[in-house]
Amino acid sequence: MNSIDSIFKFIICGTDTDIGKTLISSFFVRGLNSYYWKPIQSGIETKTDSQTVETLAQVSREKIIKEAYVFTKPLSPHWAAEIDQKTINSNNLRLPEVKGSLIIETAGGLMVPITRNFLQIDQIKQWNLPVILVCKSSLGTLNHTLLSIEALERRNIEILGLVVNGEKHLDNPKTLVEFSGIPLITEFPYIKKFGPNTLDILWKELDIKNKLVSLLNSKIN
Ligand SMILES: Nc1ncnc2c1ncn2[C@@H]1O[C@H](COP(=O)(O)OP(=O)(O)OP(=O)(O)O)[C@@H](O)[C@H]1O
Ligand SMILES: [Mg+2]
Repeated sequence: MNSIDSIFKFIICGTDTDIGKTLISSFFVRGLNSYYWKPIQSGIETKTDSQTVETLAQVSREKIIKEAYVFTKPLSPHWAAEIDQKTINSNNLRLPEVKGSLIIETAGGLMVPITRNFLQIDQIKQWNLPVILVCKSSLGTLNHTLLSIEALERRNIEILGLVVNGEKHLDNPKTLVEFSGIPLITEFPYIKKFGPNTLDILWKELDIKNKLVSLLNSKIN
């Protein structure tokens, strides 16, 4: 088995906030038994994303890497930081060194400011890891997703593929792939009740591990 079969490091981005990044991150973290890092958490009134992933993925505690920043308010990081009288410093967002797979979940969408002169997408460029773009399946996704892909490509950020999240849509996944040329990793269904077992079933059903390996191999060859 070569390393590509066993170690995966990706950034899970979304076309918007609340698009399913944490659920999809939990799915990958559980499936790959990987580390998880949400470097910037805005809002602590409900469960943090790290807590959600810990519950859903059921990986050992040390696999949930501590956030670099946790802000009180559920706002764009630049403003949430200002309200808490903090400033985000990119030096604190350096990639953690882990022996194993790693899933990083970004804050909000790509063009969300981290400071007054630095965007989430600028930080993604610095991390220099392939991106998995989570988008919704329903109306509005064509515009949001194609714009997000254009922004990533303009900066030469590698996009591994799309995860189309939600109720099955008959045309949107196909149209996204046709216009962008970005592969579809999977259509992740809407699930009423989910927990670790649901994620395990979907991981097998959707054959994610093989898809990741073949996508990574196709980039190398
Ligand atoms: N496929 C799905 N089936 C059922 N519920 C879903 C699905 N995808 C997302 N949700 C629900 O939608 C809400 C938002 O999802 P999630 O928290 O994963 O979004 P997010 O992109 O991580 O948001 P944020 O920008 O705040 O980090 C959650 O309550 C989640 O459980
Ligand atoms: Mg989230």
